[in-house]
Amino acid sequence: MDIFLGVNIDHIATLRQARGTRYPSLIDAAKICESSGADSITLHLREDRRHIQDQDVEELKSSLTTKMNLEMAATDEMLEIATKILPEDCCLVPEKRQELTTEGGLDVLTQLGRIKEVCSELSTNNIKASLFIDADNYQIEAAIECGAPIIEIHTGHYADASSAAEKLKELQKISEACAYAHSLGLQVNAGHGLTLENTKAIAEINSVVELNIGHSIISRALFVGLGAATSEMKQLIQEARGL
Ligand code: PXP
Repeated sequence: MDIFLGVNIDHIATLRQARGTRYPSLIDAAKICESSGADSITLHLREDRRHIQDQDVEELKSSLTTKMNLEMAATDEMLEIATKILPEDCCLVPEKRQELTTEGGLDVLTQLGRIKEVCSELSTNNIKASLFIDADNYQIEAAIECGAPIIEIHTGHYADASSAAEKLKELQKISEACAYAHSLGLQVNAGHGLTLENTKAIAEINSVVELNIGHSIISRALFVGLGAATSEMKQLIQEARGL
């Protein structure tokens, strides 16, 4: 099965916002990612607008040649923006103001009614809803209940595991969850904390369709350039898949 790479460009906006300048350009960055093997561009429009701005979402939507995966909280404000901009995919994530990055999966189970409503509204607008969840069968079943066609399995615990035994345990959990979700007909994506060192094992899970990677690609880009950082990750995941 083919495997796709989504490059998260939030950090490029973080750099721009640090100075309040117009550069680095997200449009140029996305173009380089796309021409270097990215299959989609991911961006998170946060409630506090700490990196991506509303105008970025609009401008990128008209310039991307691949797909836009818009990450957002399941709020009325974000839903209004998504249904105006019409990204191809919309990944619902939990959001806390003080967090440095998304800290864990969305608890779909305890917000079933709301998430179902948002998924339905997205679907009406031809946007594929993706739910960012932990590797947990109850959350996977809740995603089905909500009518989401895609889940993105949170790989952060695997990435952060401090011992080899813990890493293996987390990998096993992810692998089983991916197989279960796939067997229920969901498209299975994965992401968070993935690097050149730890991505191979996730890419080897056959049911995973797309990996969303930001921090490690943008960090690596400082040394080798954005195009090279994107293409080496693409090559790594394709080789892991035997492609
Ligand atoms: N997937 C989701 C839902 C995320 O929130 C993030 C971080 O913004 C990522 C993937 C990418 O994680 P990382 O930047 O650690 O590669």
